[in-house]
Amino acid sequence: MEGRGALSEIEEAVVPTGHAPELEREIERVLITEREIQDKLRELGEQITRDYRGRELLLVGVLKGAFVLMADLSRYIHLPVETDFMAVASYGAATKTSGVVRILKDLDHDVEGQDILLVEDIVDSGLTLNYLLKNLRGRRPASLEVCALLKKTGIQRVHLDVRYVGFEIPPEFVVGYGLDFAEKFRNLPYIATLRPEAYGDV
Ligand code: IMP
Repeated sequence: MEGRGALSEIEEAVVPTGHAPELEREIERVLITEREIQDKLRELGEQITRDYRGRELLLVGVLKGAFVLMADLSRYIHLPVETDFMAVASYGAATKTSGVVRILKDLDHDVEGQDILLVEDIVDSGLTLNYLLKNLRGRRPASLEVCALLKKTGIQRVHLDVRYVGFEIPPEFVVGYGLDFAEKFRNLPYIATLRPEAYGDV
């Protein structure tokens, strides 16, 4: 589109989009733009479509963070997928992982013999994913792989094989595209860091 193309990628990265002005006052920097996310998801969707053709894929989204990713990614996968969700306890208002994972909502169905793709918003310490993978492996799926939109570089406390990764990012706290701080910012269509003052306001 002409009009949208007039806004360069660089401008798009630094100028708030006007998506939610009250929220965007708290944003320090946009790390990954809406367009970059969508382009990457289209690529991942094509790869997943190729990899799972002819199989019965179950997408398992990890709530709450992955709800936006699940909605977009699933529409870039051109296969008859099934979807389910698990909810795990998150950080609350704190920004550091505790390593303690509690399942708040489990899968609706037995997954024995199914091809599962676990859809995660972000791999930080990796402890949540590590716990979920162990838990799901115990249910004897035919296969179990992970798709994570973001992976923080170099700070995982456990070794994890994440087959599909959207972006590697520096180990900073980020919000947007499903990721929250104190339950806010999930509805921003991009990934951003917060201004230091934002942490004091809640
Ligand atoms: P991990 O167990 O340390 O890998 O963290 C897993 C969960 O913590 C993610 O699924 C997120 O819900 C949350 N989390 C980790 N890093 C961030 C962040 O930078 N922003 C928002 N939430 C995060």
